[in-house]
Amino acid sequence: MTANDWALRAQNLSYAYPGQDPVFQAVSLAVRKREIVCLLGGSGCGKSSLLRVLAGLQPPSAGHIDFLGTPMREPDPRSALVFQQASLLPWLNVTGNAGFGLDFKHQPALTREAHTARVAQAIEAVGLQGREKLYPSALSGGMAQRVALARALAREPELLFADEPFSALDAITRAEMQSLLVEVVHRWHTAVLLVTHDIDEAILVADRIVLMGGKPGNIVREWPVDIAQPRIGHNADVVALKLDILDALHLLQKPQPAATPY
Ligand SMILES: Nc1ncnc2c1ncn2[C@@H]1O[C@H](COP(=O)(O)OP(=O)(O)OP(=O)(O)O)[C@@H](O)[C@H]1O
Ligand SMILES: [Mg+2]
Repeated sequence: MTANDWALRAQNLSYAYPGQDPVFQAVSLAVRKREIVCLLGGSGCGKSSLLRVLAGLQPPSAGHIDFLGTPMREPDPRSALVFQQASLLPWLNVTGNAGFGLDFKHQPALTREAHTARVAQAIEAVGLQGREKLYPSALSGGMAQRVALARALAREPELLFADEPFSALDAITRAEMQSLLVEVVHRWHTAVLLVTHDIDEAILVADRIVLMGGKPGNIVREWPVDIAQPRIGHNADVVALKLDILDALHLLQKPQPAATPY
């Protein structure tokens, strides 16, 4: 691998909220260009904190983040973020929300035509063509999350950071969105770092799964997912991987034996 093959490379990252013990310590994690990496772990283990630091939203207490060959010190316009809540602006319609932020100062300048084309393409990619004029109050949760994904895609990011983007959706919409994500990021050649605590979701979308755990948090295991799509639940490789991940999660949750007193 050359330095050019990586989208993101983080080394020895630590982070502590002010006045608290570190949430995670000495974490090293890398994402290749076009790779989908899922960050899996129990509730409260520090996944969201790690994602925010990796995305440049919060500076690490220690360590180094390299994004496309340059140090990441603030959110980079070549990256985009999607969260659990779509956070759409109620006074903008689908087109307005999908294009929101594209004209911000730190974004590469676009002509009006390029802006319009990018937004239209992103709306088409998430299957919302024909719904451009709708306002957020008229959108279902799944449609709102499609708009949030379109807003991220319109930036044509090299890397998409996503924190449980589908966890507020019902099971069917969620499955649709998982397939859609894989399809659009493959089409747009986007790398993804997706935080989830849903093992099935991780197995369905990931090229690689990393498991976070411990106190302070760290990456404790890693699995490449070399299973052909579609990854159907009863496929023997899917079942074996799921059991392996469940075992690892159970091991993490077992209370550590107390030190033997002498
Ligand atoms: N703004 C904050 N200030 C202080 N402590 C925080 C803050 N945000 C998170 N924490 C603490 O950091 C730890 C890790 O939280 P974080 O949200 O990163 O976990 P998580 O793995 O994303 O959990 P979940 O799966 O529930 O989303 C928790 O103990 C949490 O209480
Ligand atoms: Mg979280």
